[in-house]
Amino acid sequence: MDRYEPLAAGYRLLACESLDSTNERARRLAREGAPDGVVVWARRQTAGRGRQGRQWHSPEGNLYCSIVLRPDMPAAAAAQFTFVAALALGDAVSGVIPHGVDLRYKWPNDILLDERKAAGILLESSGIAAGCLDWLVVGTGLNMEAYPQIEGQYPATSLRALGAGPLDVKDMLERYVDGFAHWRMKWQNEGLPAIRDAWLRRAARLGERITVRLPQEELSGRFEGLDESGALLLREDSGRGRTISAGDVFF
Ligand code: BTN
Repeated sequence: MDRYEPLAAGYRLLACESLDSTNERARRLAREGAPDGVVVWARRQTAGRGRQGRQWHSPEGNLYCSIVLRPDMPAAAAAQFTFVAALALGDAVSGVIPHGVDLRYKWPNDILLDERKAAGILLESSGIAAGCLDWLVVGTGLNMEAYPQIEGQYPATSLRALGAGPLDVKDMLERYVDGFAHWRMKWQNEGLPAIRDAWLRRAARLGERITVRLPQEELSGRFEGLDESGALLLREDSGRGRTISAGDVFF
């Protein structure tokens, strides 16, 4: 029998020492009927995963958690939870990084500190009942102590590497879940513009030239903002405007 601890109102915690993947565990709980607000947290993961089948470096010392949600909405709208999670993480991280470290949101689901990736968000969902999702899992990995030593397109970093003091992972988890509850409520009450604008205020490379990799092609142009659904607006060099709902961004 799993034991849950209380978190922010509406959320409760399943704390584990080690899991293959908190997303995997959260998916299983969701399939078994777990309610909205269950948060799965593990001190380490043995098979942490990132977007597009990438592996997620998951030694002890970093934050790995996944929130089970029952959003009564279609998949396209539920994808906007990525902004809720990013803003919540951004708030949690802002409170502990040294002054002068530049925190940016990278579309669609990364957090950059001084231009290096410190956190990623992985949304997984299932089940279309009357057009709406059955469940959504919002998985978050934050490099607090350790990060993968890879350069190239996705250089990484950690809070510690940027000068943050020793941090308590559970404290960071609680800050994140508090922020998640706050931004989710704001989104519900005020709609996407309120949270999209907060995200855009700290967007990486807004107004600058970026490259977006899509399954079949790569597009380059000026990052002009986000539309009313959260899709990325790109002005190609030819002047043609593109609206991109999913892709990988490079600088
Ligand atoms: C990405 O940037 O590619 C997303 C990374 C998401 C990693 C987190 S760690 C907690 C949760 N469990 C997983 O297996 N993945 C997510």
